[in-house]
Amino acid sequence: MTTSSATSTWAAGDYPAMARRLAPAAERAVAAAEPGPGTTVLDVGCGTGNAALAAALTGAAVTAADPTPQLLAIAARRAREADLPIAFQTADADHLTGTYDRVLTVFGAMYAPDAARAADALARCCAPGGRIVTAAWTPDGFMAAANRAMGAYLPPPPAGAQPPTRWGDEAFLRGLFPGHAVTTTTERVRFTFDSPLAAAEFWVRTAGHVQAERARLQAEGAWPALHHDLAAVFTEWNRAAGPGTDPDVRVDAAYLLAVVRPVPDAVRRG
Ligand SMILES: C[S@@+](CC[C@H](N)C(=O)[O-])C[C@H]1O[C@@H](n2cnc3c(N)ncnc32)[C@H](O)[C@@H]1O
Repeated sequence: MTTSSATSTWAAGDYPAMARRLAPAAERAVAAAEPGPGTTVLDVGCGTGNAALAAALTGAAVTAADPTPQLLAIAARRAREADLPIAFQTADADHLTGTYDRVLTVFGAMYAPDAARAADALARCCAPGGRIVTAAWTPDGFMAAANRAMGAYLPPPPAGAQPPTRWGDEAFLRGLFPGHAVTTTTERVRFTFDSPLAAAEFWVRTAGHVQAERARLQAEGAWPALHHDLAAVFTEWNRAAGPGTDPDVRVDAAYLLAVVRPVPDAVRRG
């Protein structure tokens, strides 16, 4: 289990509202994993349970892990309401236990501080003949651009910290799984909003790491500028037909979807 401030900020914003918009990515990842009755599934960084619930609906036996208890509680409530028997663990990617036929992580393990260690843990939990499926925002996509805009208003990351979007770089991801067969596709989550400012307000409302700095930014008078800068990113990335059309903002956020299979007798990191 981890209780670092980096993970606790996930509960500081209205992340569940963002999770509802990310559900198509979880469904896509589950489709790539092809679970079903008789298979076991581990969802790493499950958040409010999008992928775990989708996997459980196929009849698979699902375990869902996340270091943020508040999000796990929402996932557990959703599972109860849907009458899906999912097992939950408060754990980050470095503290996974058990072996599973399918190991999923949808925008989850990418936030682990040590990418190689997290990838090793995913590989360790994957049964022989099984499959790991990862989804991660690309380093040159919309999500990275939005994070850069917000990052200008946030404290600098810890020394040596690497961007989570490395997991969305195909070469980097392949390097995380030596001795595995890796296939990738670039997928997109489409976000629509009524205006760039409405988009920025939604983004800031759902971003816990920004909400955690809200009091300081408001005291410094930087809160409106943050929204302005973020709205400009939405304007730059907007692919809607133009003002007055419905929706007024349409942004496609690219992510790398990878299917990783252990190769028998492969040499792994020790
Ligand atoms: C963008 S959310 C994704 C949640 C969910 N998979 C989804 O698709 O909605 C990122 C999640 O990663 C979790 N997380 C943060 N650090 C993590 C770590 N080191 N290992 C695993 N999960 C982590 C957060 O608690 C959060 O639930």
